[in-house]
Amino acid sequence: MNLLITGGAGFIGSHVVRRFVQNYPNYHIYNLDALTYAGNLENLKDIEDFPNYHFIKGDIVDEPFINDLFVKIDFDGVIHLAAESHVDRSIEDPLAFVRTNVIGTVNLLNAAKKLWSNSYVKKRFYHVSTDEVYGSLGKEGLFTETSLYNPNSPYSASKASSDHFVRAYGETYGLPFGISNCSNNYGPYHFPEKLIPLFINNIIERKSLPVYGDGKYTRDWLFVEDHAMAIDLVFHKGKNHETYNIGGFNEWQNIDLVKLLCKVMDKKLNRREGESEKLIAYVKDRPGHDLRYAIDASKINKELGWKPSVTFEEGLERTVDWYLSNSEWLNHVTSGDYKEYYKKMYS
Ligand code: NAD
Ligand code: DAU
Repeated sequence: MNLLITGGAGFIGSHVVRRFVQNYPNYHIYNLDALTYAGNLENLKDIEDFPNYHFIKGDIVDEPFINDLFVKIDFDGVIHLAAESHVDRSIEDPLAFVRTNVIGTVNLLNAAKKLWSNSYVKKRFYHVSTDEVYGSLGKEGLFTETSLYNPNSPYSASKASSDHFVRAYGETYGLPFGISNCSNNYGPYHFPEKLIPLFINNIIERKSLPVYGDGKYTRDWLFVEDHAMAIDLVFHKGKNHETYNIGGFNEWQNIDLVKLLCKVMDKKLNRREGESEKLIAYVKDRPGHDLRYAIDASKINKELGWKPSVTFEEGLERTVDWYLSNSEWLNHVTSGDYKEYYKKMYS
């Protein structure tokens, strides 16, 4: 099998690439990534010499490049993760999200449609998406696969749009597809612009912890390796033209999560209990901030037997341990442009 994985140098993509390269030695895994600020080949150092792994640097927005690539390599499947992924950046620059998340996705769909139309039965286009497309929940309820789309940020609007295009290519042209919508991931190789890795880095550096608004916003957290396992199952066993919701059954209000993280870090860093909590600073809220996300993952559980394998306490400890023993990785990604980003967003 020739399998194209887009965005494989990013956070989730690198875990997906690693899993497929290690578990499927007879597949050729092609990792296509533009290496934006979020893409980092250091994430894949341990598998870069495997004979079934191939890296291609390229931009999914570049239509001729994508068409040529599909002509050169007869892909049997695509797992599409490449995206602009940070809500706060989407508020600053929505067009960048339209380019990659919408136009980039349509470029891939067009190339697949063109090159695969005589052999659709053997092919699969799998689009990795987010629970944010459903908008915000109130205090009760869960997102199911039939929840209405109601995106509130430029990021989630662009992901919703890409989901619609994937489904439309299935209905209009018969393209075989699968989509999954997942809740918040955490774990190793997470870029320190998102809540958990940003706060781990700030605690290490004794910098303030900027909690948006009243900190009562709720997210459903899933260890990234469990997401990669779900993607493997949906790719191989998921029904054609269907969506699967993936989540951690693990809701936390931001402020409670941050306090737990402070406690874990104080212990690991041999600091006095309560020391890191003093760094918490309530700051201006994110515009359009979604109150609560929570996934009903019973469909993937019943149909494909998937459930999270890592508890939150275990996953958080593994994550903290990883960051503490990979200070070189952390130093590399927080030097240079990151400093400018941080100043712009948080000063
Ligand atoms: P990320 O930002 O860490 O990685 C994105 C990767 O895509 C990077 O390697 C980047 O270089 C690459 N990329 C960006 N623009 C590109 C372009 N134009 N051409 C080629 N490559 C490009 O993102 P992530 O958190 O790993 O998310 C991966 C996917 O999963 C995204 O589609 C995201 O919407 C989705 N998702 C993320 C989460 C989460 O909690 N992080 C949850 C659910 C779904
Ligand atoms: O739900 C899935 C989504 O989860 C993915 O599709 C996105 O790609 C991913 O970035 C994530 O989106 P969130 O906006 O939920 O994640 P983030 O880590 O940016 O924020 C988590 C919560 O923490 C959110 O309520 C905002 C808050 N927050 C975040 C940052 C960066 C803060 O209070 N302070 C911060 O500095």
